[in-house]
Amino acid sequence: MAEWNSENNSLWLRWTVGLFAALILLVPLGSRGAAVAQSSSPWQAPEDAKNVKNPEKTTPEGLAAAAELYHQNCMQCHGEAGAGNGPSADLLVRKPPKFTNAKLMDQVTDGELFWKMTTGRSPMPSWQDKLSITQRWQLVNYIRTFAKKAPATTSNE
Ligand code: HEC
Repeated sequence: MAEWNSENNSLWLRWTVGLFAALILLVPLGSRGAAVAQSSSPWQAPEDAKNVKNPEKTTPEGLAAAAELYHQNCMQCHGEAGAGNGPSADLLVRKPPKFTNAKLMDQVTDGELFWKMTTGRSPMPSWQDKLSITQRWQLVNYIRTFAKKAPATTSNE
């Protein structure tokens, strides 16, 4: 009886250890799978955020201020002329979109660009605490200039 019990115990033990091993192997796979699914999904701003109007007019002063901020904070990923080819772009898990692509930029509202900049999505950080509301809207106006003054770059999308 004692022998039967111990054999039964060791079977139970082996089953438990096996189950734990399976869990340890499966959990990271599962979360990696979820991360991949998340990264491939398009980044959508909420409808009410898309409809928010840009309170900042495009002015030479506003563009100059935003250009400086862009060079300090954004250029490394988004590229000097907004083509998504900054010095860090190749190292990113997700490529920055081309602000030079007029077709692409026509599909997004100012409110959407502002919301994405404010919220951030890995690898891009949130700019909410780093840049003021005015600075973020001015950056939206600045980003808009890339598709306007660089028609040649839209062909190599
Ligand atoms: C570390 C690299 C990195 C930096 C720095 C960075 N971005 Fe981004 N940005 C990205 C990536 C990558 C995406 C695409 C994210 C996605 O699709 O999930 C993105 C997306 C965006 C979008 C959304 C565009 C769209 O049409 O969907 C805007 C707007 C934007 N960035 C503006 C900025 C601004 C302004 C700055 C500087 C203040 C900045 N980014 C700094 C990497 C970066």
